[in-house]
Amino acid sequence: MQEPSYRTIIEPFRIHSVQPIRMTTRAAREEMLAAAGYNLFRLHAEDVIIDLLTDSGTGAMSAEQWAGIQRGDESYAGASSFFRFRDAVQNLFPFRHVLPTHQGRAAERILFSVVGGAGKVVPNNTHFDTTRANVEATGATAVDLPIPEALVPGLRHPFKGNMDVAALARLLEEQAGNVPVVFVTVTNNSGGGQPVSLANLREVREVCTRFGVPLFLDGCRFAENAWFVKVREPGYESVPVADIVREMASLADGMTMSAKKDPLANMGGWLALNDDDLAERCRRLEILTEGFPTYGGLAGRDLEAVAQGLSEAVDEVYLRYRIRSTEYLGEALEAAGVPVVVPFGGHAVFVDARALLAHIPPLEYPGQVLSCALYVEGGVRTSEIGTVMFGLHPDGSETPAAMDLVRLAIPRRTYTQSHIDYVIEVVTAVARDRQALKGMRIVDAPSALRHFSATFAPL
Ligand code: F0G
Repeated sequence: MQEPSYRTIIEPFRIHSVQPIRMTTRAAREEMLAAAGYNLFRLHAEDVIIDLLTDSGTGAMSAEQWAGIQRGDESYAGASSFFRFRDAVQNLFPFRHVLPTHQGRAAERILFSVVGGAGKVVPNNTHFDTTRANVEATGATAVDLPIPEALVPGLRHPFKGNMDVAALARLLEEQAGNVPVVFVTVTNNSGGGQPVSLANLREVREVCTRFGVPLFLDGCRFAENAWFVKVREPGYESVPVADIVREMASLADGMTMSAKKDPLANMGGWLALNDDDLAERCRRLEILTEGFPTYGGLAGRDLEAVAQGLSEAVDEVYLRYRIRSTEYLGEALEAAGVPVVVPFGGHAVFVDARALLAHIPPLEYPGQVLSCALYVEGGVRTSEIGTVMFGLHPDGSETPAAMDLVRLAIPRRTYTQSHIDYVIEVVTAVARDRQALKGMRIVDAPSALRHFSATFAPL
């Protein structure tokens, strides 16, 4: 007998432990935002009603992950938790060496410290902020090579996260000697949470092989990327997600990873790679800054949470719910006439603030203005991914970023459909009253990663 099929895709879990949400008034939020210098990173999380700042480390762990926390082996060296972690990583990403790190950027820092340096160039489909900053901190140059479609928010393309392979080939033709590694970010977070196809990854691999340059994945959202491959790429509809992930890994020589995203942990990451010599150099640096290579900045219990989370991340019932719930938000905003990046990303819906607030020029930070307005209107915290994040260059100059987006990132297994319905109402109300919004100027900012701590003032 055929299973009945219903339209509603439910959260495939029950809630087991809850945290209260503190309600605030609009007047209080106006005051708190001003006190925070109009920077949402400077707010107290308690003063936020729905927190869509990031999907990083903000997910709810499962009962099995909490059980792993109890099992954590806190031995300094050779803890059983490390081997459970390593085996879980290698089950999906069979790289020879796995170095745990406290989060993704620590893996980036170790790798780029070893392979980067002045005169070096690191291409990526699109570098995330910390990746770019860690490349640039070594004196190297970070180059983004997304396909042209990626930069048109309203244009639909099934794999908008793809890398421009011809541009990569041109870059390597000119200066392969200066390129220590090519990166592909799955999914492409800064580019709108868009997936990369296996066909594209295979072409990138071929170009890398032709020029003798290693290929690394920034794998933070590998499972969501694999789900998109399964449902969008011809030939993969009946391939298990875990096998798609292994195929992605088989095309690469290594990866950096934040376990705070798809692996459903609150902390953790790793650097994995095949090259023995490079691994040894990275391990030496890891001992210097992260810790002994069987814990790498993490407690044994954290390693357990990651190991268990990895098996839950590739569960297809979970992934179907995850991607559908993000789509639900995107579809509602699109129907309300809010310009959004399409197709919708895996972990987030990105509002095109430059289009919505067309009366505010990029150097008056329309993304920052919109994210502040969403907070004042309904206590919804989001993040600007635009000129505040990417507009300032290492030489001190400032130009508009490729896009001014506001990201509504969905923490994993944390909010229910009614929370999202509330968010939809808040965004729709702000969009309706958009003409009243004014630009902002920066009052004070550091010279790198300024979005985390800059202060602003309304114009
Ligand atoms: N790479 C990508 C694609 C990311 O999205 C992030 C983090 C990192 C690397 C760094 O990992 O935070 O563990 O050090 N992204 C978070 C976000 C912060 O909000 O998108 P980390």
